[in-house]
Amino acid sequence: MRHFYVKSTKGKTCGDFNLNDTAGGAGRLDIIARSVNSAFWLSHSLRTDVNFHTILFGEPNPPIYIEIVGEKVRKVQPDERNITIFLKKAIERFNEARFTQTTPGIYSGRRTFNEMLEKHKDCDFYLLSEDGDDISEVEISDNAFFILGDKEDLTPREIEVVEGYGAKKISIGKTPYLTSHCIGFLNVYLDMVSEKKSVY
Ligand SMILES: C[S@@+](CC[C@H](N)C(=O)[O-])C[C@H]1O[C@@H](n2cnc3c(N)ncnc32)[C@H](O)[C@@H]1O
Repeated sequence: MRHFYVKSTKGKTCGDFNLNDTAGGAGRLDIIARSVNSAFWLSHSLRTDVNFHTILFGEPNPPIYIEIVGEKVRKVQPDERNITIFLKKAIERFNEARFTQTTPGIYSGRRTFNEMLEKHKDCDFYLLSEDGDDISEVEISDNAFFILGDKEDLTPREIEVVEGYGAKKISIGKTPYLTSHCIGFLNVYLDMVSEKKSVY
């Protein structure tokens, strides 16, 4: 299983934003929508071995945690607007009292960053950072949980917390890339590594 977490520093936590303004009024939910696309979509299908996680830290009701389960997700199309419609439903149908399936395979609830890590403590955590160890020199486990920033990196406190969970800092180069491009690269890179493993 592959997990991707993208922090949404300013992602709006009520659904009153305009779908034509996801980079503005929605607090850069466009980054999350593109990341979801990169996490799941193949040419004619979805990756069923991927789960995607985000926590929205924008106003007025943070934090809202959203999880998308590749094996269960249905009806979502790969374009940014359609993905954002489903994110909006996850925000609008958020229930303070319980973790809720808001559409097939998409869930929202009140969960902090620490609670999300604790829930997935059996995974091997990798923090994506330009100054981490070169990915080609790190063995990536089959139960990897990748952690990425959005337009901002994680805070020093968040980094301390993930390191407490044994996270390895890994880099795909010194150039700062878009979050969604990093996820696309990780998926293709890991596919190549596993294909080589089975060939040789
Ligand atoms: C747009 S970057 C964040 C800001 C970026 N650090 C900068 O200075 O412009 C989004 C996230 O992608 C990941 N990232 C970007 N480039 C990377 C690289 N070369 N290696 C590893 N992770 C990277 C990091 O997790 C980062 O927080």
